Amino acid sequence: MSKYAIKPGATVPPTPFYYYDLDLLRRTLGVATEEANRYGYHIHYAMKANVERPILEEIRRAGLGADCVSGYEVRCAVENGFAPEKIVFAGVGKSDGEIEYAIEQGIFAFNCESLQELEVIDGLAKAQGRRVNVALRINPDVRPETHRYISTGQAESKFGISYTEVDEALARLNELPNIRIVGLHFHIGSQIRNLESFAELAERVNEIARWFEERGVTLRHLNMGGGLGIDYEGPDEEPIPDFAGYFRTFHDHLKVREDQTVHFELGRSIVAQCGELITRVLFTKTTAGGARFAIVDAGMTELIRPALYHAHHRIENLTAEAEKEKRAMGVYSIAGPICESSDVFAREIEFPESRRGDVLALRSTGAYGSIMASNYNMRPIAPSIFGGEE
Ligand code: LLP
Repeated sequence: MSKYAIKPGATVPPTPFYYYDLDLLRRTLGVATEEANRYGYHIHYAMKANVERPILEEIRRAGLGADCVSGYEVRCAVENGFAPEKIVFAGVGKSDGEIEYAIEQGIFAFNCESLQELEVIDGLAKAQGRRVNVALRINPDVRPETHRYISTGQAESKFGISYTEVDEALARLNELPNIRIVGLHFHIGSQIRNLESFAELAERVNEIARWFEERGVTLRHLNMGGGLGIDYEGPDEEPIPDFAGYFRTFHDHLKVREDQTVHFELGRSIVAQCGELITRVLFTKTTAGGARFAIVDAGMTELIRPALYHAHHRIENLTAEAEKEKRAMGVYSIAGPICESSDVFAREIEFPESRRGDVLALRSTGAYGSIMASNYNMRPIAPSIFGGEE
């Protein structure tokens, strides 16, 4: 059940808004760090999932580093107290200004995604009289079972240096005195529920790492990226993802030397389940074909995942749940107010009979929800409310 349970007669703040349960976030971080510490693994939080200040504060306090994909995220991490030595910076298209800023901050490592990028970083490091740490992002050509828009590690993807180019990368590195190769970076995709994909990744990493070591490159760090999925169907059955299974999979399959450190970049699995988007029914109507719609005041401007990836989020009618008398069930499509046909959160689901003014919760929206919001149709950005503070 939604953590934002409404008591009969209580007033609900103006909708739409995001509600975050910081208590669940803390418990999630507790399990994630305990399971990672078992093997001495390091977690960098993928800032792209959510950058609300109270959330970053909990994550920093739990001891995680930061994984950034833009100079703006690097700045946000630094301003929120993340130690630069724990910041990694990935991205296929880093601008010169972003690279310069990250060099100035002295971040832990750049995850480099092309041969040209290596040269540019070398030049910009030279201009600052520095030598910077670089991990090569290698595209391992592993195909996880997930939506094609959020899978990144296949041969035809734009991400990473192709394994067919590693020979050239290595030759090039020897001519670039201002960068130091410290490791390899991988990320095969997001919302991966089948741990077999990670086992396959680890086995590929073993081969690729051996290739580099045989050519005299000492890999101090292995970065496995992120991608652990969550249960969107049953947020109450599995509020905390299977971190134990995830890290154990790497422990069982990844070959790690004593002097090597292993890093992860987790986003969704840390923050998704602690967030809910709270919205209100504006109108209900029935189409000529007899389909019933509940039109709500949140839309793809607040949560774009259903429109963009056909993502499923569990929806609850909190007003109906708070009532003593059970409401009859009906078949509803739940849609937002935006002038786009794709602005539909759920199509033809079994849902309690819904009325104007009912308050609904869209569950599991802590990751890639508020951060992907837009002002389309000139809508303001929805506020956030935090519960479960210490
Ligand atoms: N590291 C890299 C290099 C990444 O590209 C990503 C996510 C992560 C780590 C974190 O992955 P996670 O642990 O959150 O799966 N907007 C999409 C997801 C895009 C993910 C992009 N990269 C969605 O709403 O499903």
